[in-house]
Amino acid sequence: MKKYFVIGNPISHSLSPKLHNFWFRKHNLNAKYEKLLLEKDNLNKIVQKVKTGEISGLNVTVPFKQLIIPCLEKLSPEAQNTQSVNTVYLENNKLVGHNTDIAGFELAIRHIKFDTSNKNVLILGAGGVVPSVISALKNLNTKNIFLMNRTKEKAQKIREKLEYIEIVDWGDIRDFDMIINATSLGLNKEDDLGLNFESIKKKILFYDLIYNPKETKFLKSARQMMHIVENGKMMFIYQAHQSFTLWHKVMPNIDKETITIVSE
Ligand code: ATR
Repeated sequence: MKKYFVIGNPISHSLSPKLHNFWFRKHNLNAKYEKLLLEKDNLNKIVQKVKTGEISGLNVTVPFKQLIIPCLEKLSPEAQNTQSVNTVYLENNKLVGHNTDIAGFELAIRHIKFDTSNKNVLILGAGGVVPSVISALKNLNTKNIFLMNRTKEKAQKIREKLEYIEIVDWGDIRDFDMIINATSLGLNKEDDLGLNFESIKKKILFYDLIYNPKETKFLKSARQMMHIVENGKMMFIYQAHQSFTLWHKVMPNIDKETITIVSE
């Protein structure tokens, strides 16, 4: 039986096993997918198990998406450009790191038919996932991409490679059309960004990359202000779908049943 893992720390919130195992059953694949809480010191040990074939593939989440890179032998262009890996597999006996977060976010925005080509989009945060979100927004021909992070230096570091983005001060809420929470704040239900969005008078899209909990404080307050709100569920499904297709050469349907699995 082929074995797959999602590695991270923390990892308890991950719904990847639920989704991948559901698709295994749907497609009669003899495989098992589990989550693994990992300490940094054990990262290379796990990756080496992909090399020996003991493990057939890994998904990688916070805080290992960048840390895993030195353990790998080849990066896809997407992983190289973002310095972020969320999918690992063996190809021609080489350990390959790929990034399916970019496609995941892009397809999630396409899924809701939100056209960003005439939009001012603000991203909150400058952690590991942010270069992927920026790449996806670029693929979507977004008009203007703004980046705001509590620690401004980290946002500036991202801009060094992606000069087309504009850095804004923490709290400088302008006339944005879409605001994306890409910080880790919200994983605990009571987490509060401490930002005030009341100056935004028109109806805009608030998007939270977090999908568990379903409604972060960020989304709840936006909903109460009558904005459009989306959590990271579809991004999560699409990035998983991309990994699944890569590993198994099978494309599961993303139907109501699939979405329900993640929503339960
Ligand atoms: P990763 O492992 O994905 O790189 P990270 O570097 O811990 O994650 O990034 C988490 C993001 O959430 C950062 O943008 C962080 O802001 P700082 O760069 O200022 O640390 C943001 N974040 C975490 N806690 C926050 C808080 N209390 N207020 C505002 N932003 C916060």
